[in-house]
Amino acid sequence: MVKLAKLSFLFLPTLLLGQTASAEVQGNDFIQVFEQLSGKQPGVRKGHAKGVCVVGEFAPSTAALQYSSSALFTAESVKASIRFSMAGGNPAANETERSPRGVGVQFKLPDGRVHNIAGLTTPVFPGKDPQTFLGLLQTLVPNEQGRIDFAKVKQYRQEHPSTQAQFNWLQSHNPPSSYSRVQYYGIHSFNFVDDKGDKTKFKWQLAPVAGELALTEQQMKQLPPTFLADKLKQELSTGSVLFELHAIIGYEDDVTNDPSQFWPKDRQTISLGLQTINQSGDNRCDGINYDPNVLSKGIEPSDDPVLRLRSTVYAISFGKRLSGN
Ligand code: HEM
Repeated sequence: MVKLAKLSFLFLPTLLLGQTASAEVQGNDFIQVFEQLSGKQPGVRKGHAKGVCVVGEFAPSTAALQYSSSALFTAESVKASIRFSMAGGNPAANETERSPRGVGVQFKLPDGRVHNIAGLTTPVFPGKDPQTFLGLLQTLVPNEQGRIDFAKVKQYRQEHPSTQAQFNWLQSHNPPSSYSRVQYYGIHSFNFVDDKGDKTKFKWQLAPVAGELALTEQQMKQLPPTFLADKLKQELSTGSVLFELHAIIGYEDDVTNDPSQFWPKDRQTISLGLQTINQSGDNRCDGINYDPNVLSKGIEPSDDPVLRLRSTVYAISFGKRLSGN
């Protein structure tokens, strides 16, 4: 035993070094960098820390039935717990800033199971894989004087072109005037699976029925850092807020493993149904992990490595926030 312990001790550094050299990015690496970027935020989400919870119903169309056997499309309507949010781990994020907004929807299926979607207001993600995204976040960590080295960030972007498309999108689209007046993108590719097992690749989008309406430059300067939850509450006091859930149907050779790329614009769009929102201020979202790989039979994740890693990171964040860490 003693010999073995000694031996493992001797070999341990070599083994660890070997592991580090080839190690893939781990979920916890993101939790650490979120903490470096936003400080310790006990009890809150480590990403999308600031948000508002609403409830509504989803009424599916019949268009998806030819592609998928999911119970999401066979039910007449299903209840949904929805959370709109600001990207990042800062619970006091400024709602006029040029950053993505997010939406998480948990559909309650008739058999008691759930189906999740969680997307952003940008069609693309800043990095073709977890490694590239993690590197970008690491360059954004402030130094000991609290300053971000923007030259380093710029250089990183140049060396990692897959981080650029989301940045360009955010520069050319002002932030939304309301959580209800912006389009949300699923970003990743998923597969519909029908009764025979045939697969069709798709990306989902949630489009506001009232149309998109961005903040003006003046509003971006004048509005307070927090207004989105109140705005939504006010909108809901005069009626429901509506979104249409769409699927963009991919071609066989469309890229599925790189969320920094969007498919060509000419792809067919089908309506999957109408999402109605009736009431805000619900607190059920606190106990929800919008893991985007929790899907119903009839819809499958793609081979996107960012999509795959999200489950691990969300589980760590969920466990931490529920235990007050
Ligand atoms: C490696 C990439 C990513 C990491 C590390 C990451 C990390 C996180 C974390 C830690 C949370 C909080 C989870 C919780 O406590 O419940 C979160 C929430 C969220 N993420 Fe991500 N995320 C990634 C990619 C994405 C992508 C690609 C999208 C959009 C397609 C997205 C959209 C969202 C949304 C909407 C929420 C808020 C869900 C809620 O309201 O609870 N994330 N993310």
